[in-house]
Amino acid sequence: MRGSTGFILLLLLTAAAAANPVPGDGVPAKTSIIFTTLGRPDYAFDIFTLPLTPGSLPDPNDEVRLTDGYSVNFNGHFPSSSLLASVLPQHHPRRHELIRSKASPRSPSPAREVVYVTERNGTSAVFYDAVFDFDGAVDEGSSSGRRAALETPVRVQVPLLVGGGGDGKDGISMKDRPSLVGTKLVYVSTHEDTGVPRTSWAAVYLTELTNGFTRRLTPPGVADFSPSVSPSGAWTAVASYGVKGWTGEVEELSTDIYVFLTKDGSGRVKVVEHGGWPCWMDDKTLFFHRRGEDGWWSVYKATLPVSGQLSTEVVVTQRITPPGIHAFTPATSPGKNKFIAVATRRPDSSFRHIEVFDLEKFEFKELTRLVSPHVHHFNPFISPDSAYIGYHKCRGGDHERLSRSPHMFLENVRSPMSEVSIFRIDGSFPSFSPEGNRIAYVDFPGVYVVNRDGTNRRQVYKETAFSTSWDPVRKGVVYTSTGPTFAAERAKVDVISIHVDDVDELAVKKLTTNGKNNAFPSPSADGKWIVFRSGRTGNKNLYIMDAVKGEEGGLQRLTDGPWTDTMCSWSPDGEWIAFASDRENPGSGSFELFLIHPNGTGLRKLIQSGSLGRANHPCFSPDGKSIVFTSDYAGISAEPISNSHHYQPYGEIFTIKLDGSDLKRLTHNSFEDGTPAWGPAFRGTADVDWPDFNTWCSFEDCHWLNTYPSLSSAKVQCGA
Ligand SMILES: *[C@@H]1O[C@H](CO)[C@@H](O)[C@H](O)[C@H]1NC(C)=O
Ligand SMILES: *[C@@H]1O[C@H](CO)[C@@H](O)[C@H](O)[C@H]1NC(C)=O
Repeated sequence: MRGSTGFILLLLLTAAAAANPVPGDGVPAKTSIIFTTLGRPDYAFDIFTLPLTPGSLPDPNDEVRLTDGYSVNFNGHFPSSSLLASVLPQHHPRRHELIRSKASPRSPSPAREVVYVTERNGTSAVFYDAVFDFDGAVDEGSSSGRRAALETPVRVQVPLLVGGGGDGKDGISMKDRPSLVGTKLVYVSTHEDTGVPRTSWAAVYLTELTNGFTRRLTPPGVADFSPSVSPSGAWTAVASYGVKGWTGEVEELSTDIYVFLTKDGSGRVKVVEHGGWPCWMDDKTLFFHRRGEDGWWSVYKATLPVSGQLSTEVVVTQRITPPGIHAFTPATSPGKNKFIAVATRRPDSSFRHIEVFDLEKFEFKELTRLVSPHVHHFNPFISPDSAYIGYHKCRGGDHERLSRSPHMFLENVRSPMSEVSIFRIDGSFPSFSPEGNRIAYVDFPGVYVVNRDGTNRRQVYKETAFSTSWDPVRKGVVYTSTGPTFAAERAKVDVISIHVDDVDELAVKKLTTNGKNNAFPSPSADGKWIVFRSGRTGNKNLYIMDAVKGEEGGLQRLTDGPWTDTMCSWSPDGEWIAFASDRENPGSGSFELFLIHPNGTGLRKLIQSGSLGRANHPCFSPDGKSIVFTSDYAGISAEPISNSHHYQPYGEIFTIKLDGSDLKRLTHNSFEDGTPAWGPAFRGTADVDWPDFNTWCSFEDCHWLNTYPSLSSAKVQCGA
């Protein structure tokens, strides 16, 4: 197999930029899909570093941003040996100077090399940056001088991996947790479909950067997360389900730690039952995290035997960090056995911080709380010489000035289908106007309407609302439902129409009359009827009412049963209504997609995402032949604790044909993607930025880390 290294990257970008075919006979019309990713528009992650100076407290001015302020950059790694000579082109004008400077122990501020994941250009990639601070004239004692020099560092930036890894045809996949050993890159990619619903596509690959040779290290049918390569390079440790698979958990994954030979994945063996995020201190010592029986996240140590057959029985595990502080995502410094780095959540702070844990004194030393107390910091990593610690955090706030990346309102996401452009919107429940030139969406609380190019954004409704749809005939009429989301059957939720172009008249009209959780309105193609879900009988079922007069003008029940039918979408040809339902397993949390004719005949299941799986939010394509929807079909793609909060971290966007064929995964990330809509216009691939800089970094840490188990019970269990 050939992989996609920086050299092959050039070819991929050229191919992506090639002209798209012109619509006509046999060529599908160009369309757009728009969706939401919880929190993602605010992430603005960059990789930062702080010196690790024994005996001294970190100074805020010592923090250096290593990545360039474009896009979202995260999950960094300091390579164990310099890659500079291999990646710098022979003809690079400063090649000799840079390599010499890197090697010079007298450099006032030596080059930092970092490998990381970036989501620039609408897809996930692994990049390498070397950052040189050449200005020897900078006064080391003066923090302002130092900061100024670092604003214009000399940067060498090389994409190491942009394709799917190996045979990834369209080059689209999630990449995660890169480690670089020599010129071998070990990482997670999601480019291979397991073919089995509700199984993760995350698997570990190795790419030899000099020739692009790529090999899958994870066995077929298995998902591996959070790989870590041992200091010698010989072994890789991962968090894995093995063959038992995902059972739907969204907090701690029920993974075990496996190790295998980095060169080809052979010798694979489970070494620790129950654990995640492994890292090696030496080739026989691993650290990892787990949520212990006392409820605290803690770091544990696993000591592998010096010789003989490996198994969980011969590996000795020991809890390292005490209850009272959640400590997780450990990092080690190869060969240095005096300390580890961890992310923590302390009961007296609502922010995630990076700390060092001293393995001799058995105590924490806070780092980032002293530098930026009110920002979340994620996934630490330590330089091979133990002199620096790296992590990622949102670059907003203090770093706004340095940020060159705009805050995106519509972000183009690389599409696996040339005829469909895909956008992430900074808002939820988007829908396209019939012409496709306007978008209605929800930004809690309130409904907004905006032009496709981001202009003329207006709030058209102030109260909490969800699920928008446009009338196909009456221009400027948007339907939505107003009231609490995720509420019970009898909650006060009503379907309303809003005349968004007619503010003088009574623009808002209430269409339902009983308030019993009436939601998800979708109009028929002729604009005469609306299908919606209602909890009026005690169950959420589907009803059809008059689009203009509301339920007083005529109401007809479409589905009837002791279960939930919801999230309905009427096809453009009027023949079908697609909806999500748990009718096969009421109350289980499992939702499947169904189709039914508006006259109540022809009910059939379109897709089920495995046993107890979820498929939600169906929306028809403009030609009525396909549906876009959200699903957990591809399981979970990374340990949720390595991200900020996502209610449903398994949410990805898929399309499927009405006959149930041609299932396609559109998004690849470890975040929660949802509420897709499919519209007629094709807007190319240009991003739309927010006209004004607005808030950055307003996202929350994992809600389930906000709970701190009682310490007394923890002590009892520890002693027992
Ligand atoms: C990728 O993104 C960067 C930064 O946003 C931009 O300067 C560059 O032109 C993009 N490259 C392509 C091929 O789109
Ligand atoms: C119901 O609607 C479908 C689709 O329009 C149609 O094919 C079918 O004949 C209708 N059945 C009845 C009983 O009206």
